[in-house]
Amino acid sequence: MPPDTIGRFYDSLAETYHLIRPGWEEAIARQGEALDALAGAVLGSGPLDILDCTCGIGTQALGLAGRGHRVTGMDLSRDSVRRARREAADRAVRLVVLVGDMTALPVRPSSFDVVVSGDNAIAHLLTDHDLVAALTEMRRVLRPDGVLVLTLHTYEEPALSRHHVTDPHATTTPGGPAVSFQSWRWHPDAEHYDFENIQVLPDGDGWRMAVERTTLRALSRVQLVDAACRAGFVAAAWHEPAETGFFQPVFTARPAPAS
Ligand SMILES: C[S@@+](CC[C@H](N)C(=O)[O-])C[C@H]1O[C@@H](n2cnc3c(N)ncnc32)[C@H](O)[C@@H]1O
Repeated sequence: MPPDTIGRFYDSLAETYHLIRPGWEEAIARQGEALDALAGAVLGSGPLDILDCTCGIGTQALGLAGRGHRVTGMDLSRDSVRRARREAADRAVRLVVLVGDMTALPVRPSSFDVVVSGDNAIAHLLTDHDLVAALTEMRRVLRPDGVLVLTLHTYEEPALSRHHVTDPHATTTPGGPAVSFQSWRWHPDAEHYDFENIQVLPDGDGWRMAVERTTLRALSRVQLVDAACRAGFVAAAWHEPAETGFFQPVFTARPAPAS
């Protein structure tokens, strides 16, 4: 999927992304705490230099910056970047946010203790080639003793139906109630799916429907570990939600020592 298509998908969602799941404010605090604990267990309490290379509107980046780390956020979507900057300013949290592509990071080598990509963002990389390119970039910008932290949706669930629709959930917004749900239409390869984010939003005295579409890859654990090895990572490990308190499994790996 061309980067400008993904950028447009998230540009359209930038102002309503927080409605996709219930409790965005609590999610910022909870996810920040969980990732802080994971990174701290490996590298000590910090403060650490952290790159969130798919920060979107800032769920993980704001939480980590709020815990005192020096966080740089980055994302393809210009409107998400603008919103992340605004959210940081509203909370008086120090957060630098750049526009960029995780397959060609606009940062110097060996600059960060931690590189984060949260909430299944790497599922936007549809091929092994793009996945290895992004992971190679993440390794390049990590310090030799750094840690990679990716969070992913679990796809190893009982067979998903060919057309799966998530349960809708309602949220209260200043303009009135809003309802969000997603539709997943699987491709014949059973590895990719067309993802639609559907929102019914208050609009004056009525409603408007917003539908955004993109394609995602249902990456397996084996595929991710293999790609991380090819990109020069070692010590690949999975951390389950019951252990971390993060709502998705978390994958960590360390840069291979220079030979
Ligand atoms: C599901 S959202 C998660 C955003 C954020 N981590 C959060 O949880 O709020 C995925 C994000 O990845 C970004 N993204 C997808 N492909 C990207 C790429 N190649 N480089 C940088 N960002 C990318 C999207 O623009 C989007 O903001």
